Amino acid sequence: MNNYLLHTPEGVRDIYGEELFKKKELENSIRNIFAEEKYYEIETPTIEYMDVFSSDIGLTDTRDLYKFYDADGNTLCLRPDFTPSIARCAAKYFKDETSPIRFSYAGKTFTNTSALQGKLKEVTEVGAELICDGSVKADAEMLALSVKVLKASGLKNIHITVGNVEYFKGLCEELKIPKDIEIKVKEYIIEKNVYSGSTFLLNAGISPSSVDKLMSVTENYGGEEVLKKAYEEASNERSKKAIDDLLKLNEELKSLGISEYITYDLSMLSKYNYYTGVFFRAYTYGIGDAILKGGRYDNLLKNFGKNAPAIGFCVVVDDLMQALSREDASISDTGERYLTFALGKGRLASKTMALLEEMGIFCEEMKDKDTRKLIFVNEEYKLKFFLSKGPDVPTYVEYGAADIGVVGKDTIVEENRDVYEVLDLNFGKCRMCVCGPESARELLNGRDRIRVATKYPLIAKDYFYNKRHQTVDIIKLNGSVELGPIVKLSDVIVDIVETGSTLKENGLTVLEEVMPLSARMIVNPVSMQMESKRIKELINRLKELIEE
Ligand code: PRP
Repeated sequence: MNNYLLHTPEGVRDIYGEELFKKKELENSIRNIFAEEKYYEIETPTIEYMDVFSSDIGLTDTRDLYKFYDADGNTLCLRPDFTPSIARCAAKYFKDETSPIRFSYAGKTFTNTSALQGKLKEVTEVGAELICDGSVKADAEMLALSVKVLKASGLKNIHITVGNVEYFKGLCEELKIPKDIEIKVKEYIIEKNVYSGSTFLLNAGISPSSVDKLMSVTENYGGEEVLKKAYEEASNERSKKAIDDLLKLNEELKSLGISEYITYDLSMLSKYNYYTGVFFRAYTYGIGDAILKGGRYDNLLKNFGKNAPAIGFCVVVDDLMQALSREDASISDTGERYLTFALGKGRLASKTMALLEEMGIFCEEMKDKDTRKLIFVNEEYKLKFFLSKGPDVPTYVEYGAADIGVVGKDTIVEENRDVYEVLDLNFGKCRMCVCGPESARELLNGRDRIRVATKYPLIAKDYFYNKRHQTVDIIKLNGSVELGPIVKLSDVIVDIVETGSTLKENGLTVLEEVMPLSARMIVNPVSMQMESKRIKELINRLKELIEE
């Protein structure tokens, strides 16, 4: 017998015994709440036509779908989420219905994510949808239901952030930002990356005053007072209406007694065009991603032939189980929570500690060269630090094992993790370049297929394929990349150049610059919401120091 037959494929797992009992109990308690609130269950098939989840309809990249063909040659997929299927059902079975329709669901969803990400490919989702009601009251009903579900699950720390995509759309219209630039800058805003967003906009010819206005969106988060201020300052009708809707929602939430769980963030955007108005995410300690996601998707049903507004949310039960078991782990004996830093080993870590010392934050035990300790603590400010290899820093931060990381821009781009890039620390400056012997310059402009050696295959691929539109063979190396052209393994290299001395000593030269690099501070998206006051203060103090 082959041993592999005993294993499940990566990303799927067996659940049994107490774990399954707890999972079923949790799932059933949520289903009971839905039933009490008259959100009746609907069952849709696990297999659908792929077009039901096509890129302009769904929230999943079509590359991440499990696709296959039926006997007639139709392209089918395993559902990656429920909402498009429910929209299809509402359009089919309730075509002429105009009064509110309430649905709930529970079942498995499937995403074919890339290997070694530590994420499940098959999960159990539960959720609710309210169709044919575009009112602020419906938004409030959904948020109240979300709070009820999360509280009933037993979570102690619940934090919900609410945004409205219309605010940003209004701003882009007002500032006449071209669509392609809007899409790109949205990504920077989602990452809270003001530095790169501003540079990108300025390079695209957008005026400095418009750049400031657009990027200041990232500062608009907090309570009711932030909304009121943003309302006063909004200078176009679409954005004003978006904030007015949020203010009305805020009043509703107050009267429902749940405003203590809610803050607002006008820079909370989605990379998909799916959401049309209010949208929200719920966070808790212990897992690195939102525990509940929801929002208004008024255009979705049109894809299936019914013109009706809708709003909904979903919870991944497997993630909720994990959050419940990990919630308390990061709390200190006194009940305060530590903020954990992951620092790239070497110069980046010492420079970061030097900056923190200028702010009066010390960690003497880190300076002991003989120590075998892995975690260092500053009790005064409730901070923890650990050192790791550069490429691991974004991983620790994405999963919430560290709240904050300091690492080079090269690593952030290459690792491509879901983190906020909040600050350019202005040290560790260097460049990512295409280098080689002078004779290779000709090759770069020719049509021949060339070989590129690099420690950064993603960056190299993006540069050659998407910017230069040149097909190349990329060879991954782990160090001393300059050897590549010298021993004729490759024609050129893509590597970091700081002083240029390694190149010079080996008869190589910079042929093209790919991007400027420096050390950046990254933050876990959940930590940014749960610990926003402490992290914002830290960012602002660091910013002042760097500017000095
Ligand atoms: C980096 C980079 C270059 C060198 C550039 O290597 O990969 O080799 O520094 O610096 P310079 O322009 O100042 O000469 P690193 O020292 O990190 O080691 P590696 O070659 O093993 O990757």
